[in-house]
Amino acid sequence: MSYDQFGAGEALGGEGTRERGGAMKVLIACEFSGIVRDAFAAKGHDAWSCDLLPTEKPGNHILGDVLKVLMGMPKEEPWDLMIAHPPCTHLAVSGARWFKDKIQEQETALLFVKRLLNARIKKICLENPISIISSRIRKPDQIIQPWQFGHGETKATCLWLKNLPKLIPTSIVDGRLARVHKESPGPDRWKNRSRTLIGVARAMAEQWG
Ligand SMILES: C[S@@+](CC[C@H](N)C(=O)[O-])C[C@H]1O[C@@H](n2cnc3c(N)ncnc32)[C@H](O)[C@@H]1O
Repeated sequence: MSYDQFGAGEALGGEGTRERGGAMKVLIACEFSGIVRDAFAAKGHDAWSCDLLPTEKPGNHILGDVLKVLMGMPKEEPWDLMIAHPPCTHLAVSGARWFKDKIQEQETALLFVKRLLNARIKKICLENPISIISSRIRKPDQIIQPWQFGHGETKATCLWLKNLPKLIPTSIVDGRLARVHKESPGPDRWKNRSRTLIGVARAMAEQWG
């Protein structure tokens, strides 16, 4: 079965197998990098990324709107787990000085987050920086840092969890340079800053896979 049948866009790459075989069916929503998808695939899961952008690395990828994937979800073939990385542009408190000029964008972004959190999927993790999701929807279940997962830098990342245990740090390392200072300005800056770190991706796959 192709995801085109759900009106979601184009399903690219991979074998496209729909067989379960004991493995979980995992949807990585809002991921162009393929980093979390590949961490789950390496553990034998049927993992798919979904983004409006093409995948940076070959693999199972749904090119299109993740809400259409969720709306078109057939009852007999539900996802077991979704990890979602919705855009934080209008939500992150680091951009608070512009909040008054983007009320409508914020409402739209919050609605997107709510729809992801309310998806009919048993296990869900939604990830975002410190943001107004905490005050407008609910507080996160956990806040993690890259230095807890082998990357010597800081970037507070909130996790909203449904039927998942908190992530246990896998490798606490030295280094507390703010990640925000590591990227120089340029067209790819947002991408470089938003890619999920491999240490975090592996921890998710090892502990939730
Ligand atoms: C903050 S980035 C997350 C990047 C991710 N951590 C990664 O490693 O690829 C947010 C992503 O959400 C995607 N996005 C926004 N709206 C979407 C939608 N309706 N459906 C699917 N992806 C969407 C954007 O294209 C962007 O790549």
